[in-house]
Amino acid sequence: MCGIVAAVVAEGNVLPEVLVGLRTLEYRGYDSAGVAVLADGRLEIRRKSGRMDALEAELEDRGLPESRQALGHTRWATHGAPADRNAHPHRDHEGRVVVVLNGIIENYAALRGELEAVGVRLASDTDTEVLAHMVGRRLGAGSTLLDAVCETLGEARGYYAVAFVAPGAPGRIVCARKGPPLALTSWQAAGGRGAGAYLASDVLGLLPHGCEIVYLEDGDVAVLEAGRAEVYGLDGQPRERVPRLVEWEAEDADLGNWPHYMLKEIHEQPDVLAKTTFERIREEVGDAVFEGNQWSDESLAGIERVQVIACGTALHAGIIGAYMVEELARVPVDVDFASEFRYRDPVLVPGTLALAVSQSGETADTLAALRLAQELGARGGAICNVVGSTLVREVEEVILTHAGPEIGVASTKAFTAQVAAAFLLALRLGRARGALASKTARELLSELRELRPCMERLLSGGLLEEIRATAARYGNSKGFLFLGRGVNYPVALEGALKLKEIAYVHAEGYPAGEMKHGPIALVEPGMTILAINSPGHVAAKVRSNIEQVKARGGEVISVGADAASHAIADAVLAVPECPELLSPLLNVLPLQLFAYEVARLKGCDIDKPRNLAKSVTVE
Ligand code: M6R
Repeated sequence: MCGIVAAVVAEGNVLPEVLVGLRTLEYRGYDSAGVAVLADGRLEIRRKSGRMDALEAELEDRGLPESRQALGHTRWATHGAPADRNAHPHRDHEGRVVVVLNGIIENYAALRGELEAVGVRLASDTDTEVLAHMVGRRLGAGSTLLDAVCETLGEARGYYAVAFVAPGAPGRIVCARKGPPLALTSWQAAGGRGAGAYLASDVLGLLPHGCEIVYLEDGDVAVLEAGRAEVYGLDGQPRERVPRLVEWEAEDADLGNWPHYMLKEIHEQPDVLAKTTFERIREEVGDAVFEGNQWSDESLAGIERVQVIACGTALHAGIIGAYMVEELARVPVDVDFASEFRYRDPVLVPGTLALAVSQSGETADTLAALRLAQELGARGGAICNVVGSTLVREVEEVILTHAGPEIGVASTKAFTAQVAAAFLLALRLGRARGALASKTARELLSELRELRPCMERLLSGGLLEEIRATAARYGNSKGFLFLGRGVNYPVALEGALKLKEIAYVHAEGYPAGEMKHGPIALVEPGMTILAINSPGHVAAKVRSNIEQVKARGGEVISVGADAASHAIADAVLAVPECPELLSPLLNVLPLQLFAYEVARLKGCDIDKPRNLAKSVTVE
């Protein structure tokens, strides 16, 4: 989705830093980029459709004057095609103000009509431009920038993170948040470094400038000047926002020598598994403990049902979590797409834990679904990767996944971290309710620890070579069906999603037992079926599904640790055996690598697949 980066400093030229910030946010997905500076009392804008390279070429041709104040934006088109005239920043015709926006102004057509009725002709097709004219007109009538922004946003309906700069308010950036995230950091002059303040829609963009981050909350408006940032409500009243310490480091987001972030992040999974779980494991008593005594016996005592809500990959992790909670804690679990839950007038029973799963903690549908569940009386819990994200701030209890920044749009390490966190929660719930024997829990925790070296061996052994060969052999199949049962059914969904999103080929994930109810009609020579199977209570059933596929000419790739499945398949991607309930943590690795390799062979843009955004902060 769109990205905002803005900065004001006491000395020096700030534009290069804003451009670096925009590069950092590239991973979020965008189709145009632009910057504005305020220099010598005038606003100057450069913006281009396409990638950052196009904007930087434009800046080479038509340089900008040095400035201590700049706004930058990467746009993911919503209103108006990805064209230069629709790229941000936008300004009013008199040059009184410039604006960048993430999100949507829902009543922009009405606002545009009002502006046109008084003779304002808009230069773009965007919803954002109306804000420039509305604020500009107020500035022209003598308002301060803060008042003009507050009054304008009072008339705008929608979800936005927005930032303004005006020649009439030099040295100042006014920004506001309602929905999409916005975070800031400011510093006084010290140790040879001049004072400054920096604003970004993604905390990664702030890391080079400080780790004490203020996250704006909905309805906040902030005024940034070099060395300070003040937060107000739309009513102009000051609000206190305490900075939080972010433990990520700018280097965590470095590509290093890897060809793609996705491959780097796939290989980080053994460490991520350890970071998510090891310090929380109490093997001697067969239990898990969480920071701040969260998820204690007392807090879990009243939980009678769990409602998982999430989107995409996080939803697949949540489905695996549902199998784990039902098996280990004997608590019923419902799982729903956040986008469906929020509009289906759901019924929640007393004692429901609404468990939102999200890497970013900023996904609009997940947040809306969680808020609805909380309104309906549910207790809010989350599995999330981002400290200080909206989701983390809005729930009673959280399990942070500690996966570090995930830059590849295709989620990999966040998925395994979510599954591992869900496993710990299921085990804790089982122990709290007396549904899980300490011996069984101890055995499972010891097996969980063993997965790290297993993952390491898999990723450093010959798996990648095997996958290269398999991807070369099957990459051009006319279609892919991913089949699994039990905990490996969501793994099938995840394998298909990975292939679709980065290699742009049609792939479906299906519960293997459902195949006979429709998808088997697709099976014929040229169709590839990836069967995910691990020894356990449904292994024989999956084997019989494999036979049915083979009988109709489908090519089968057997994925997992079931030797009997491997024996009847056309190709094998084998992983070591582990308890069935934990097997998704290993089985997903070859599927991630398979998607990666097919996409690489097809020459796709693996880290920034077309049409996708890393974090979907609007509907
Ligand atoms: O940040 P979230 O985990 O809430 O994001 C949810 C989905 O958009 C996300 O998991 C998406 O499906 C993956 N990036 C796909 O790989």
